[in-house]
Amino acid sequence: MGAVHGAIGGSRRGATAAGALLLLAGSAWGQANLPPGPGRDVVAAKCYACHAFEARVGNGYTSEGWDTVLRMMRNQGAPLTADEVAQIRPYLVANFPEKNKVPAVIVPGPLQVNMQSFQVATPGSRPHDPLATRDGAVWYTGQMSNVLGRVDPKSGQVREFALKTPHSGPHGLVEDRAGNIWYTGNTGSLVGRLDPRSGTVTEYPMPEGKTDPHTLAFDRDGILWFTLQNANQVGRLNRTTGELKFVTMPTPGARPYGMAFDPRGMLFVVEFGTNGIALINPATMAVREFKLPDAGARPRRIAITPDNKVWYTDYARGTLGRLDPASGEVKEWLSPSGAGSAPYGISAIGDTLWYSESESSPNTVVHFDPASEKFQSWPIPGGGKIVRNTSVTSEGNLVLANSLADTVTVVTIPR
Ligand code: HEC
Repeated sequence: MGAVHGAIGGSRRGATAAGALLLLAGSAWGQANLPPGPGRDVVAAKCYACHAFEARVGNGYTSEGWDTVLRMMRNQGAPLTADEVAQIRPYLVANFPEKNKVPAVIVPGPLQVNMQSFQVATPGSRPHDPLATRDGAVWYTGQMSNVLGRVDPKSGQVREFALKTPHSGPHGLVEDRAGNIWYTGNTGSLVGRLDPRSGTVTEYPMPEGKTDPHTLAFDRDGILWFTLQNANQVGRLNRTTGELKFVTMPTPGARPYGMAFDPRGMLFVVEFGTNGIALINPATMAVREFKLPDAGARPRRIAITPDNKVWYTDYARGTLGRLDPASGEVKEWLSPSGAGSAPYGISAIGDTLWYSESESSPNTVVHFDPASEKFQSWPIPGGGKIVRNTSVTSEGNLVLANSLADTVTVVTIPR
């Protein structure tokens, strides 16, 4: 998510002439490079308004995946008639098939988990983050349908709450003590609060240039902290006064991403644009950066165990890593499906780690026990389709949002 935010944020706020020219030049280049075939002209006409098409294709999609993408784009506001969808679907399926997935390596072990999945209400929602709340519900951000969804795992009932600013791109979410759900509106450059009792949404827009609000968490004093990936900053919102404060990461382009508080209340942020982990003192906003030993490391999500060890998924190198902030020592383990497995969403449950491999086919749930240094893993029914974040229920079960499968999954762990 780099350029696309700049472009979307820019046009929403009134792009500069130079910015607009750059966009046009970029899309002209891309359109010229589209492979020939029926459907090409429709893609050229319809798929460059918000982002360059080729910047988003990545490793391609299955035919089912392209259906999901087209649903998501229509939810996001792409003006596509049913006729145009029928023209471009076969073109996309033929020219941009799914590639570069690694076969999932499933590691057997002693734990028996049970996985139960729930379909989100609107197809093409791209459920980005899940959140298990204290009342036993599972929430998700419908990034492409501009809703927050609430699943009751007991009844299977799903309820959607519409947000205010159109296409605000709800991304991360967190619960406050009163049961309100706070979220980042990633494309809308805002932080929002939903009161589930009334359905009322309150928005806190970011100041100019503070783009890409991403992941969020409350500190002990009830201050809301959030990363701004593209702006290379971490922000905080005082809910009582509405005051916003920001701090810039020392490394340019560090892309602050996942975040977590340690048991002492210190904030750790993984930097997805570099091999870094930032430690932020919430009282002073002073930042200290730890450099991971491998320059190619790209830590994406983070979890902290009760012993103050900081765990991260290295998306670029396929490893699970552990930083001891006291000594600066780093230790890494190769994920079961290997270097190309793209470990992503991660949670600590007690002393052990649970995460998902997002480029293995199918995606997996992986368990790692630091005491024995042993892995165990399971395929996610339905393929998983990129678990971008995970959450933990009050009973200590894992929750996944399967972004391109339009489902959320509760992984029940025996104990
Ligand atoms: C109205 C704006 C808009 C238009 C028009 C648009 N897109 Fe998108 N697209 C988005 C946004 C916003 C995202 C989200 C960026 C992200 O999070 O990756 C996105 C993401 C994508 C992704 C990545 C999705 C994923 O989750 O893996 C693909 C692929 C894509 N677009 C293809 C297309 C195609 C094909 C078209 C033309 C039919 C198109 N887009 C037109 C707004 C648009």
